[in-house]
Amino acid sequence: MSVPWQTIETSPAATRLAVRGLAKAFGGVQAVHDVSFSVTAGHMLALIGPNGAGKSTCFNLVNGQLRPDRGSVHLDGIDVTGQRPRDIWRAGVGRTFQIPATFRSMRVRENLQVVLASRERRTLGLWRPLRERFRDEAMALLTQVGMQGQAERTCGVLAYGDVKRVELAMALAGRPTLLLMDEPTAGMAADERHALMALTRELATQHGLAVLFTEHSLDVVFAHADRIVVMARGRVIAEGTPEAIRDDVTVQAAYLGVPDTEAGVPA
Ligand SMILES: Nc1ncnc2c1ncn2[C@@H]1O[C@H](COP(=O)(O)OP(=O)(O)OP(=O)(O)O)[C@@H](O)[C@H]1O
Ligand SMILES: [Mg+2]
Repeated sequence: MSVPWQTIETSPAATRLAVRGLAKAFGGVQAVHDVSFSVTAGHMLALIGPNGAGKSTCFNLVNGQLRPDRGSVHLDGIDVTGQRPRDIWRAGVGRTFQIPATFRSMRVRENLQVVLASRERRTLGLWRPLRERFRDEAMALLTQVGMQGQAERTCGVLAYGDVKRVELAMALAGRPTLLLMDEPTAGMAADERHALMALTRELATQHGLAVLFTEHSLDVVFAHADRIVVMARGRVIAEGTPEAIRDDVTVQAAYLGVPDTEAGVPA
């Protein structure tokens, strides 16, 4: 079976995503203010912060759902600021998304084939040869996420953790160089969470994929992120390794709910 996704021929330390001075306001709410960070190939960066910190807004500025008021988004050195979501997807930004209701009645394999056909700018329709054409590639992607044995089942009958694996395979079908995951493990049991993030790590390493994820579960963040960016009220308040972030008093004050004075940070 052919491997659907070529190894990316750039240095392992290549910067996949560079976000500089990003800003976005909604009316009077400055949701994102002067946010900069970057993610390198093969690395997993966690964007964390309390509710309303601006994490999802940052994601939507990167994936094209929103246009920034200021700042830039570069993908593999190319300026993609303000491009439409579809163009950004084609430029190499994959994201996990919840499988829509209509897809739940389809077989796991067919879901992958729809995404693969979309990548090739074709509609799957009912044309059998086309349906067959993406079959091997769909199976290869399902093998990568350990779901090949369930390819012929309908998505609606899968266990929740398995649905998440299918979503990951669907994101990979676009051959991304950057993968965005907004709260990927929400609603999962602890062992499933760690399994999904370990699988993501494996794929990132194998393919030189950069991963940007948000996560409320701090055990997942500290176990799986290479670096952590902490946001609060639209701004980046800290960035570093999990060890550095764990010990950062500003983070403890703003994120973990310890009052500033107790954490030793001037108000
Ligand atoms: N489309 C929108 N219109 C108006 N305000 C918005 C919109 N999207 C986000 N906001 C506001 O921007 C701020 C940042 O929201 P955002 O969803 O980015 O936070 P978040 O860090 O993802 O939070 P959560 O952890 O709850 O997902 C919040 O004050 C939110 O109410
Ligand atoms: Mg959010």
